Amino acid sequence: MILETGRVVSTETVADLGTVLVVSSPGIATRAHAGQFVHVRPGDRFDPLLRRPYSFNGIDRKRGEIELIVKPLGEGGEWIAERRGGDPLDLLGPLGTSFVVHRATTHLLLVAGGTGIAPMKVLAEQAAAAGRNVTLIMGGRSIHHLWPAHRLPPAVEYVTTTEDGSFGIRGRVTDAMPEYLSWADQLCACGPWPMLAAVGRMRDEAARSTSVIAGRDVLLDAQIAVEQHMGCAMGVCRACVIVTAHGNARVCREGPVLSLGDVRFEGGEPATVGVIT
Ligand SMILES: Cc1cc2nc3c(=O)[nH]c(=O)nc-3n(C[C@H](O)[C@H](O)[C@H](O)COP(=O)(O)OP(=O)(O)OC[C@H]3O[C@@H](n4cnc5c(N)ncnc54)[C@H](O)[C@@H]3O)c2cc1C
Ligand code: FES
Repeated sequence: MILETGRVVSTETVADLGTVLVVSSPGIATRAHAGQFVHVRPGDRFDPLLRRPYSFNGIDRKRGEIELIVKPLGEGGEWIAERRGGDPLDLLGPLGTSFVVHRATTHLLLVAGGTGIAPMKVLAEQAAAAGRNVTLIMGGRSIHHLWPAHRLPPAVEYVTTTEDGSFGIRGRVTDAMPEYLSWADQLCACGPWPMLAAVGRMRDEAARSTSVIAGRDVLLDAQIAVEQHMGCAMGVCRACVIVTAHGNARVCREGPVLSLGDVRFEGGEPATVGVIT
């Protein structure tokens, strides 16, 4: 993990998903892996004080560049999304755990919702470049919440779902998943907590089933990247703790990439009740 002043190369708004920033940051780019994140200083004053975490949406080691997608929810995200070419950006990273694609995986299934597309896009690019077969299922409220197909490698099969039926399959990612689970030999997912909880319920059903379910092993072995409010992102403040099968976990250190079967959900949200600090 290093502290580096990146330089914004370009920015572009991608419909209602957020602003994509390409940032020259050679030190972080050479160390970054899919699923990890950078902690970005959201201003050049003391307010807002806390850095904001963003996953890598692209990693280009040759050019020394990283890509972030920033959905401005509040003051910090707005400031970051408003940066323009040439602006400096104070970055701390790479932080956290990364996805592990098994050596034997030939058919990789990726599932994304919202800005959860970021680590899934990096995985798709890397796995396609390594000659693996990749299917990426992305869901959003409408066509305006989907990642554009032309920004993915052509070798990646891209399946989309929208809740209003404005593009792709009407419904949610979990409606499209069963068909591909029997094809895949590994599953990775990232998106809002309710989406991850729904994938978790599919895993629970597969785990409980006594009959042979297609894709059962893939669900049991799934990896997910989770989001939680953060303070330090260095494992010290414990603002990001969630409950897992192995006890409390700090999303910034033991995560954000965790085994789906280890994460405890409560009504579609992370279980944090009973956290012992
Ligand atoms: C590991 C990790 C990776 C992330 N990757 C991305 C990414 O690639 N792109 C992206 O746009 N966002 C990502 N996020 C979420 C992002 O960090 C927050 O949205 C951001 O910190 C909000 O800052 P803000 O200043 O825009 O809003 P704030 O002013 O901090 O908050 C505005 C509102 O958003 C809510 N909020 C803030 N953070 C979160 C959160 N994590 N989850 C749900 N609600 C939240 C607050 O409660 C408040 O209501 C990631 C978070 C984590 C932990
Ligand atoms: S954000 Fe401080 S411990 Fe994770």
